Amino acid sequence: MFNITVRDTYEEVSREAAEIMLNVVKGTEKPILGLATGSSPVGLYQEMIRDHKENGTSYKDIITFNLDEYCDIPKDHEQSYWTFMHENLFNELDCPEENIHVPAGNLEDEEQACVDYETELAKYSVDVQVLGIGSDGHIAFNEPGTPFDSLTHLMELTEQTRRDNARFFLDENGDPDMDQVPKFAITQGLASIMRAKKIIMIATGLNKADAVYGMLKGPKTEDCPASILQDHPEVYVFLDNDAASKL
Ligand code: GLP
Repeated sequence: MFNITVRDTYEEVSREAAEIMLNVVKGTEKPILGLATGSSPVGLYQEMIRDHKENGTSYKDIITFNLDEYCDIPKDHEQSYWTFMHENLFNELDCPEENIHVPAGNLEDEEQACVDYETELAKYSVDVQVLGIGSDGHIAFNEPGTPFDSLTHLMELTEQTRRDNARFFLDENGDPDMDQVPKFAITQGLASIMRAKKIIMIATGLNKADAVYGMLKGPKTEDCPASILQDHPEVYVFLDNDAASKL
């Protein structure tokens, strides 16, 4: 079931998404948070940090699980999702490092890493999961064609996703460098994500409009991985006017 909010600005989208998140954080004894990378949730994370600093909301008892990680770069690479999460959220909160889970993408045995991550995740019940959406309708790194019953797995990234993410991998002239963009990722599967009790989906910008349409109004198909959310009982979708322009 979708609860859709359309706002004029990214700031409003982020503020309202943060209300859902903060209600869970403040109203749950030991909240389990599912977190995402990408530019979409950065404003939401800023609101969480602001609330923590201004109101003293504690994150000492939270446990977090991230969705995904690139495979062929080290954990401390400036573009790893581990680094992203620390720079954009964890370093600013009082969340113990041992409570943070980000898939390990740089291991000898990545198949085993997938099984281990899924096993750890399955011990918990995620109270709220943050999601963005790729321009091809992917969620986490579940590209079109990923089975709806997938668990944590390795994914070869599509050309479109690698092109979208090339803006973060720059050459010495500051231009996007496709050669540096990883080709594989470890990602929670679609079935893993669907177990979350609540989902916050944030999408802004014209390049998301087709994917947003596919998620909300299109047929439920593995060609648009986000369309699986049509079966979830509680999805809060926050859009700006551009992302909502095809609805
Ligand atoms: C990557 C991430 C996704 C994210 C997507 C969109 O592919 N794995 O979790 O939703 O990018 O990113 P952005 O929010 O920067 O548009």
